[in-house]
Amino acid sequence: MSGPVVVVAPLPQVLPRGRERVELQRDHARRAVWTSAAAQRSPIAELRKNTDDVPQASRGWHWSLSHSPTRVAGAVWCASIGVDVEERREVRPDLVERILDAEELALFAARGEDGFLRTWTGKEALLKEFGVGLQALSRCRIVRVGSSELEMRFDTHLRVVHQHSFDDHVVSVCTAGARAPSFVVHAQPLEARAEVAS
Ligand SMILES: CC(C)(COP(=O)(O)OP(=O)(O)OC[C@H]1O[C@@H](n2cnc3c(N)ncnc32)[C@H](O)[C@@H]1OP(=O)(O)O)[C@@H](O)C(=O)NCCC(=O)NCCS
Repeated sequence: MSGPVVVVAPLPQVLPRGRERVELQRDHARRAVWTSAAAQRSPIAELRKNTDDVPQASRGWHWSLSHSPTRVAGAVWCASIGVDVEERREVRPDLVERILDAEELALFAARGEDGFLRTWTGKEALLKEFGVGLQALSRCRIVRVGSSELEMRFDTHLRVVHQHSFDDHVVSVCTAGARAPSFVVHAQPLEARAEVAS
């Protein structure tokens, strides 16, 4: 069996403003989740969250999604999963310090990378897999940096976070299993919900 299929897609080029824009981003991110479900013939039936906003499994299948200003990403998997996508941008030094400590910075510096975007998306994917928010950021540590994966620790749990870079974005995915994901990057916005095999 292969790993989760992580679906990434652009948002429409012309976006509404305010609340409507947020609703459209959330809708397109859910299209990415359903596209992942269709690709894996997952029986997942609904995308429900609990009162803390944490996605809840359906028929044993877990889901996660993310929106950046111009992209969405989503995936389902038969074990807990966290997905995060972010766009490269200028960051304030105090945010870098909040996300990466000195040892983690050194791991990237040894590779000639600044590592900010990889760390940011990696830690968010890890937090989402455990269903916790940013208050748990200090419980995430990078142990090893590979070319397209980060070995990370959340408390005593070890994870390999897989990463894919495209168009000035990084998408990260974290699961409990050992199987590597595949990343499917669409060039066009996704159509409304893909059919899910019964
Ligand atoms: C959940 C969290 C990690 C995410 O979010 P984010 O980067 O702002 O937003 P994303 O678009 O990537 O993800 C949002 C989705 O995460 C999911 N989510 C929310 N809370 C979650 C939780 N506790 N666990 C798992 N998933 C969660 C939801 O599905 C949500 O989308 P929806 O509202 O459309 O359903 C949150 O802790 C947060 O507030 N982040 C702030 C961003 C930041 O400062 N990051 C730097 C840190 S490394």
